[in-house]
Amino acid sequence: MTEKQTENLLVKAGLLEQAANSSTEGITISDINRPDQPLIFVNQGFERLTGYDRSEVIGRNCRFLQGPKTARSPVTRLREAIANGEECTVELLNYRKNGQPFWNRLSVTPISDHNGKITHYVGIQSDITLLKRTKERLEQANLTLRHFQDRILTELDQAKIAQQFLLPDSWPETNEIEFAAKMVPTDEIGGDFFDVIALDDHRYGFLVADVTGHGIPAALLTFMASVTFKNVASSDLGAGETITEVNRRLFGKMPNDAFVTMFYAIYNVVSKEFNFTQAGHPDCYFFRPSVDKIMTLSTEGTIVGPFSNEDVSFGDASIHLEEGDRIILYTDAITDVLWQVPDSSQITELGAFIRNHSDLSMQTLFEAIYSWGIEVARSSKYSDDFTMLGFEVTNKKKKSSTDLTKEKKM
Ligand SMILES: Cc1cc2nc3c(=O)[nH]c(=O)nc-3n(C[C@H](O)[C@H](O)[C@H](O)COP(=O)(O)O)c2cc1C
Repeated sequence: MTEKQTENLLVKAGLLEQAANSSTEGITISDINRPDQPLIFVNQGFERLTGYDRSEVIGRNCRFLQGPKTARSPVTRLREAIANGEECTVELLNYRKNGQPFWNRLSVTPISDHNGKITHYVGIQSDITLLKRTKERLEQANLTLRHFQDRILTELDQAKIAQQFLLPDSWPETNEIEFAAKMVPTDEIGGDFFDVIALDDHRYGFLVADVTGHGIPAALLTFMASVTFKNVASSDLGAGETITEVNRRLFGKMPNDAFVTMFYAIYNVVSKEFNFTQAGHPDCYFFRPSVDKIMTLSTEGTIVGPFSNEDVSFGDASIHLEEGDRIILYTDAITDVLWQVPDSSQITELGAFIRNHSDLSMQTLFEAIYSWGIEVARSSKYSDDFTMLGFEVTNKKKKSSTDLTKEKKM
């Protein structure tokens, strides 16, 4: 080697050392062929990280950084990797000169001479204490969140079970009406409910309601609205008067912008008068098979809850029913999917379906409507609570089914 070559080599070595020292990581080199594989080089990053001066560590095996709480398994992995001439990365607890522990992410890589014989190992030490701590905190926070989520889910399930008790579990005893209902709540707790009440021995009240939103707030509102309705409904009040009174009691008590839509009807089996009111809710269907006529029934009216009775009123209308007539109340889950039927209005579409399936019993008709909606939506379920309530004027002395089809998804 000429003088110039030696000088060049020294310059390069100096540059390399400068580069190594500018690193914030620890960089170490140990001689693998000397007894106990001592360190022959440490950079300033290592000195900063460990608090040791290079004069204190050169010539020693780097295991002096280990201490009482250093786990054995990463140390074993290191030993085996080095014995096999492999590279290896571990995370292990090390101790600074002042005894303070820190988490070290250590990578060791073999260096071979021109014959392929491993002569040295380079080690890179990174302080990952903060990272580890943040990870631990994150894991802890995740665990807390998971517990919280589990609790919420359990409570939602309980609320859902409780919500089922709002629905009637049997039909009033009468031979003049064939009742039918189908309700399939969404997985999430929803805001639909319905009720059928015997107001006296010949008048029956039918309510279908939809509370805005989902989740616990909606569930609480369904309780509030249902209980209020049960308390108000009586044989003295017509449909419009009933909802007016329900609105009076709910006004000012609904949180934020929450509201309820309702369709309430009273059927008198003696006079056959069907009296109804519509409060921001979809129209109801009326089908008369004797003339093969389907139509929707509606009144003036607005949503229930946010406006005082001084500002709003709920209309009231009546028609006379005859034997065979069908009445169908529902919430918008079904009409929301029917807009997908090409070239039609969903209202006409549903009406046509009801008319074309008049040979089915009311309950079977509801099942058919439900399945049809699923088919149209090309989905296995509705995105909102599916609710349908109705009746047929029978007066055939046949026993109406007391088996109320509510699908309880719990
Ligand atoms: C280049 C190099 C750097 C090392 N740096 C560290 C280190 O920073 N901290 C540590 O605990 N061990 C370090 N080790 C590992 C130990 O020196 C030793 O190989 C390990 O403790 C396994 O051997 P033992 O079971 O004989 O102790 C390093 C090893 C090499 C080859």
